[in-house]
Amino acid sequence: MNEGVDTSKRQFLTSALSVVGAVGAGYLAVPFLSQMQPSAKAMAAGAPVEVDLSKMEPGQLIRVAWRGKPVWILNRTPEVIETLGTLDAKLADPNSNESIQPDSSKNPLRSIKPEIFVAVGLCTHLGCSPTFRPEIAPSDLGNDWKGGFFCPCHGSWFDLAGRVFRGVPAPTNLEIPPYRYVNDHLIIVGEDNEASAA
Ligand code: FES
Repeated sequence: MNEGVDTSKRQFLTSALSVVGAVGAGYLAVPFLSQMQPSAKAMAAGAPVEVDLSKMEPGQLIRVAWRGKPVWILNRTPEVIETLGTLDAKLADPNSNESIQPDSSKNPLRSIKPEIFVAVGLCTHLGCSPTFRPEIAPSDLGNDWKGGFFCPCHGSWFDLAGRVFRGVPAPTNLEIPPYRYVNDHLIIVGEDNEASAA
């Protein structure tokens, strides 16, 4: 006798729970699907960044953020470019064979145009952000310092093409991000010519 009651109760409960389950699944599906869409903030964080070069002074460094990383844009003077041509013997990877850069920046100055240098501002050792030290032979860095980026965390040296010196902890040159020129005074960091042509 009790079996009949129990069975009908069980059937009722099973049906009720199925309805709740179906409603619940539908209710849960909405936020799940919405979470599959990248938010505007997430899209902005990965989006290419336009940088206006028109007001840059010779020797000036500006900083932007791209994909959560610092990116430096340096306007190199003719003197800096000349000095960069004298450093190869002191560098760990002067031809950037072991380093990360687009093909358009795989050259001695590591840039598309000689004067404008673009790099990710993170040390290739453990990711500290090196300091910009353009001066020649400052007292704290010594007579061999010809201007560059100095990482204070463990003492890595990079020249003003982001090339790492021999005998420091950082193993490779600073990373060069993809970038392209829209015109002489405007670059887009995060896009290269191959990507924009595709
Ligand atoms: S993180 Fe730059 S030298 Fe270690």
